[in-house]
Amino acid sequence: MPATIFITGASSGFGAATARRFGQAGWNLVLAGRRQPRLEALAAELAAHCAVHTLVLDVRDRAAVEAAVAALPEPFAAVEVLVNNAGLALGTDPAPSCSLDDWDTMIDTNIKGLVYCTRLLLPGLIARGRGTIVNLGSVAGRWPYPGSHVYGASKAFVKQFSLNLRCDLLGTGVRVTDLEPGLCESEFSLVRFSGDQTRYDALYQGAHPIQPEDIAETIWYIANLPPHLNINTLELMPVTQAWNNFAIHRDA
Ligand SMILES: NC(=O)c1ccc[n+]([C@@H]2O[C@H](COP(=O)([O-])OP(=O)(O)OC[C@H]3O[C@@H](n4cnc5c(N)ncnc54)[C@H](OP(=O)(O)O)[C@@H]3O)[C@@H](O)[C@H]2O)c1
Repeated sequence: MPATIFITGASSGFGAATARRFGQAGWNLVLAGRRQPRLEALAAELAAHCAVHTLVLDVRDRAAVEAAVAALPEPFAAVEVLVNNAGLALGTDPAPSCSLDDWDTMIDTNIKGLVYCTRLLLPGLIARGRGTIVNLGSVAGRWPYPGSHVYGASKAFVKQFSLNLRCDLLGTGVRVTDLEPGLCESEFSLVRFSGDQTRYDALYQGAHPIQPEDIAETIWYIANLPPHLNINTLELMPVTQAWNNFAIHRDA
């Protein structure tokens, strides 16, 4: 029987590419996100390759996540791979002037939503004695930059949560990876820039960023390693990306 992968944020970017990668290989897909038409279009696209269960789900809604996981039908209930991918960055204004509502949304989605999905799917993974959780962290959780404040901090949470889970899951056969991409091209930046296409185009121009298909291939690799191997953290950047100097403020 095909294995099942549960992907949050499957309506776009990394999540949709991961659905295609696993779906085309015949895996059962559970595709979660808020935009139903996108999920249904993806399900229709992949219908010839695999079985798909779509979940119109806001991961911030704990009761909704609980109900959705409890009601997973056969053959989707036996989740073998969980990709905690739903997430977002909002804005690049400095901390003193950015929106507190945006901070709430990032904390609720990137931290609380990820925690809800993990906790609720863990018992099944443990009961089956195997499985893989791939959490989407970011280079922003490791390296500071201006305007990253709560977004970067939420991804630092994802990193530490992933490592701490490894401790509690020792002996269960369940693996956990914190996947930390750098510059990638997806709707992520349109969301961050409030739909500003000019800013989006300027960010990627000439930069050869990572593509969602690259992330999907990496998740495929992580999930299909021999079961005795766990990649704890995996940081990825395009070759065109590196670090810059420390900033130093000088008196006039
Ligand atoms: N792109 C990058 O440069 C980059 C780099 C490092 C890490 N990441 C991380 O990678 C993950 C995926 O990013 P991406 O580039 O694929 O971005 P994306 O194309 O904007 O996709 C984000 C996905 O998250 C879903 N989502 C957002 N809020 C949600 C909520 N409350 N409930 C359920 N789903 C929600 C969106 O679906 P709906 O809107 O339909 O709900 C969408 O499918 C994020 O966690 C992001 O922080 C991205």
